[in-house]
Amino acid sequence: MRRSARITLHPHALQHNLQQVRYAAPDAKVLAVIKANAYGHGMLDVANILDNADGYAVACMPEAVELRSAGTQHPILVLQGHQNLQDLHAASEYQLRVVIHDQAQLAYLDQFDSERIRIALKIDTGMHRLGIPPEDVNTLYNKLKKHRNIDADIWLMTHLACADDVNSPATTQQLNRFVHATDTITAPTCIPNSAGILGWQASHSDWIRPGIMLYGSSPFESKQHDRTQYNLQAAMTLNAPLIGINQLKKGDPIGYGASYHCPDDMIVGAVACGYADGYPRHAATGSPVSIKGIETHTVGRVSMDTIMINLDNISAKVGDLVELWGENISVDRVAQHAETISYELLCNAGNNCIRD
Ligand SMILES: Cc1ncc(COP(=O)(O)O)c(C=O)c1O
Repeated sequence: MRRSARITLHPHALQHNLQQVRYAAPDAKVLAVIKANAYGHGMLDVANILDNADGYAVACMPEAVELRSAGTQHPILVLQGHQNLQDLHAASEYQLRVVIHDQAQLAYLDQFDSERIRIALKIDTGMHRLGIPPEDVNTLYNKLKKHRNIDADIWLMTHLACADDVNSPATTQQLNRFVHATDTITAPTCIPNSAGILGWQASHSDWIRPGIMLYGSSPFESKQHDRTQYNLQAAMTLNAPLIGINQLKKGDPIGYGASYHCPDDMIVGAVACGYADGYPRHAATGSPVSIKGIETHTVGRVSMDTIMINLDNISAKVGDLVELWGENISVDRVAQHAETISYELLCNAGNNCIRD
C-alpha cells in the first residue's frame, strides 16, 4: 500500500548532528541511540550513515541481532538487557553488551555456560524505571566481577529522568547518587542522553548515549531551547502533496466537528497526510507547515488522511508538496502544538510512511 505522505532521510544532517555531539562532549565515546528503528528514521540506514560513531545502543535483543547481522563491528549496547537464556546465547553469538538492571537477570547468567558476556550495570539513581538500587551496587558489582560467565570489563550506567529541565535539581541529585554508589569502583561509565550532553556537563562520562539530538530535535521542552540554539539539523522531512484547494466564505466551517470557522473569506488547501501517516491528531489549529518555503498553518481537526491548511496569500496548486516538518518546520514546534514530544512524532511517521 502506498500512501502519498513521504519521509525523507537527510544523511548530511545526521553526520552534522553527530559532530555537534562531539563538540559538546569531546572526550566521550558516542553510542548512537538507534532503538525504535532509529526513532523512525530507519535503523540500518542510520547505523550505516553514522558508522563513525563509537557504537550503538538499541532497546532490545531483536534490534541488536538485526544490527549485528547487517555487518557492523561496533559495540552494541542492549538497553533492556537479556530477558531469558536465549537472549544470553544471542548476546554471546552476536557479541552484544547487555544491561543488567534487575536481579532476576542474574539467574539466567548463573545458568548460562558459554563465552563471557559483556555487561553494563544500570543503577537506579532516581528515575525508578530500570536499575538496581544504589545501596546494592558494591556487593553486586563485586559478585558480577567474579562471575564465571561475565566479562571483567563491566560498565556502570544510569539514566537521567529530568535532564530536559535545566532548572530541575533532580539531575544533580541523580549524579550525586551515582558518584556515591560507585566511588570505590573503577570502571567505564555511561550516563547522559541528549539533554545531559547539551545541558549538564557534569553528567558527561566515558560513554554517552545521544538519541534525539542526532535526529535534529532539541531534547528540551522549553521553546527557548529549540534546535537552532544547539545548531542541530532535521534528519527527517515529512512531506505530502496538496490534493485540493477550496475558496471558502467567512463563517464556513472546516473539517470534522466543524471546530474551525473561517474568520474571513479564505483559501484553504487539503494535504494528503493525516493521523494514519503519523501526523498527530491532536495538533491544534495553527500548527505550522511550509509550502514553497512559505510558512502557513493548519486549520480545523486533523483527520485520518487529510490536514487542512490556510493558503491565503500563497500561490499554490494541487500537486505542490507541503512540508509537515523538516528543514523549515521543526518537529519540536509541531510537537508543542500537539502537546507531545518530537520523539513520538518521529517514531509514528517512521512507522507509517514510506521513505523516499
Ligand atoms: C536508556 C536510554 N539512554 C539514552 C536514550 C537517548 O535519549 P535521548 O533521545 O533523549 O537522547 C534513551 C532514550 O529514550 C534511553 O532510554
